[in-house]
Amino acid sequence: SSCDRSEVWMSHEKITTSIKSEKAICAISGGVDSAVAAALVSKSIHSNLRCVFVDNGLLRKNEAEQVSDALQTLNLNLTVIKASSTFLTRLKGVADPERKRKIIGKTFIELFESKIKSEKFLIQGTLYPDVIESVNVLGPSQIIKSHHNVGGLPKRMKLKLFEPLRELFKDEVREVGKRLGLPSEILERHPFPGPGLAVRIIGEITKSKLNLLREVDEIFISELRSASLYHHIWQAFAVLLSTKSVGVMGDNRSYENVIALRAVNSIDGMTADWSKLPHDFLATVSTKIVNCVHGVNRVTYDISSKPPATIEWE
Ligand code: XMP
Repeated sequence: SSCDRSEVWMSHEKITTSIKSEKAICAISGGVDSAVAAALVSKSIHSNLRCVFVDNGLLRKNEAEQVSDALQTLNLNLTVIKASSTFLTRLKGVADPERKRKIIGKTFIELFESKIKSEKFLIQGTLYPDVIESVNVLGPSQIIKSHHNVGGLPKRMKLKLFEPLRELFKDEVREVGKRLGLPSEILERHPFPGPGLAVRIIGEITKSKLNLLREVDEIFISELRSASLYHHIWQAFAVLLSTKSVGVMGDNRSYENVIALRAVNSIDGMTADWSKLPHDFLATVSTKIVNCVHGVNRVTYDISSKPPATIEWE
């Protein structure tokens, strides 16, 4: 349990003897791990830690504001890079999932790199399961998706990696976060992929598709919260498909977008079961999406587990 393993938490002494009076930088994703890593280190080295949050324009509705507000309460020295137009311009016309990931990863690294000044350390929220998984038993040809993590930061940055959570499991990280006063919106969030909504829009990404998906996602997630289902699900989200479907609106034929809702239960994301959400609940969400979001006439629910499907569609 967390209590038995409290000795593996990185102590103030260990942090200060490692970093001394050097400066450190941390990329904040909005997820639990990077936020806890940053909060923990900042408690020891204060303003010598600078946190960078990249708003890539691929985030969910109001997400950038929510993350910066939540982190501001922790007095983190936070720089927000507003880069949505850079990302969207580079993604224009790109439909291939791996190309999208590569562009997003590369752009992220470029922007992050441009913010490095005299920092010597890179703080990263690597957890114990990540340490184990990174021993890639399958070999590089077996990589299924190129995950966009700070772990891939180029060697030329010459930053020393400092991973204060590398002996901890997720539940222990949440416990540390709780003790450090991180808000529950950050601690209890579902995982969200680095490439964001880009891998939830099948095919080319446009501003209007992003806006449509943001509205749909917000309905799904807020309904999960109001039905007290959010915390029983490991991850839930909506996907905008590239197919259009025929529907009927009043007396007229419609030809509009199709949404797939996905909710899974998992321990670590390596395998996952589709969640058996109540039919009444799915009916409510479907009706609300079609009634409230202009341009959607069909909602489907993904009943695939991992394997053989992956959690994300791209
Ligand atoms: P898949 O789709 O591979 O997803 O079954 C497993 C978990 O990883 C998340 N995911 C990512 N996270 N960068 C990330 O940081 C990525 O490129 C990425 N791709 C998938 C996904 O949301 C799920 O939780």
